[in-house]
Amino acid sequence: MVQTVTIARPDDMHLHLRDGEMLKTVLPYSVRQFGRAIVMPNLKPPITSVEAARAYRERILAAVPENTSFEPLMTAYLCDATDFATIEEGFVERVFAAVKLYPAGATTHSEYGVTSIDKVAKVLDVMQDLGMPLLIHGESTDPTVDVFDREAVFIERTLMPLLERHTRLKVVLEHITTEQAANFVASDTSGRLAATITPQHLLLNRNAMFTGGMRPHYYCLPVLKRERHRLALRKVATSGSRSFFLGTDSAPHERGMKEASCGCAGIFSAPNALEAYLTVFEEENAVEKFEAFASENGRLFYGLPPNEGTITLTRQPTDAPELVQLSEGKSIQTFMGMGALPWRLVDQKSRQSY
Ligand code: NCD
Ligand code: ZN
Repeated sequence: MVQTVTIARPDDMHLHLRDGEMLKTVLPYSVRQFGRAIVMPNLKPPITSVEAARAYRERILAAVPENTSFEPLMTAYLCDATDFATIEEGFVERVFAAVKLYPAGATTHSEYGVTSIDKVAKVLDVMQDLGMPLLIHGESTDPTVDVFDREAVFIERTLMPLLERHTRLKVVLEHITTEQAANFVASDTSGRLAATITPQHLLLNRNAMFTGGMRPHYYCLPVLKRERHRLALRKVATSGSRSFFLGTDSAPHERGMKEASCGCAGIFSAPNALEAYLTVFEEENAVEKFEAFASENGRLFYGLPPNEGTITLTRQPTDAPELVQLSEGKSIQTFMGMGALPWRLVDQKSRQSY
């Protein structure tokens, strides 16, 4: 039985870092694992301008713990009214690595999102010429569509026409959750379509949200799906295919915002995301494919060089905290605080566990 696993330092290709005190609290958990992250722009207000992205990047860099390194890769929040010149300028000046498309109303802080793809067609044309990736929250917002069908319906009604209309645009379908999405991305032969997969969608099916009662800390968007979807995701994630890579979608919310009559969507997986992913790869007898998923496929899609250094996990029960404290008695519940994982990340500096 493998006792330690060492891979090139990985990247998190879908991360919510928030701002202010929350940013300072959650960022170190990502920094100890990842060399870079694609940072989501759904702040309040959203990151829609080059200046706002630059300033946010500075706040992130200021919160990186001393003697560690981390590169935040910023994204622009796409609105109906986004000017293509802003996107072009941000990309050329190496501020924006990508553009994030939230269908208006699909998820947390998506109210300024896109109401119709027609409205952003010009921006997408410019992005395709620049080779700039479009990152999509792929869920239909049609209220008559069942919540568990929203991803599959989005693929049919929105993503397929979008890919046909913009034939060279690079697209990442973010946090895929269904067999339909897994098959759709796997069947692409052009290399311009990829998908991120979260730890929770690989480890859990929708039963987790209702075991013994309502479990708000297992609620995220897109929502957990049936077992057959989880199995399809595990298959593609561990297949070695270049089209699938790591994106935690770690999305911290203060506990009171989730344990509420209308609780927020989002799972805070940053404290032990890698341990969670490795658990899946081991269960699938695919530990040798873990490095491609975590450290190679994503950076190749984005055209990034390898990170310096490696990270090592050892076979030891995880020691991630169940709760991460904020000020005034507030806290964030962590994902695997609700179950034990058999792996532990070894701290690179001291070679001690964290
Ligand atoms: C994310 C958040 O809280 O910002 N929530 C989530 O459930 N994943 C938004 C998102 O990525 O959909
Ligand atoms: Zn997200």
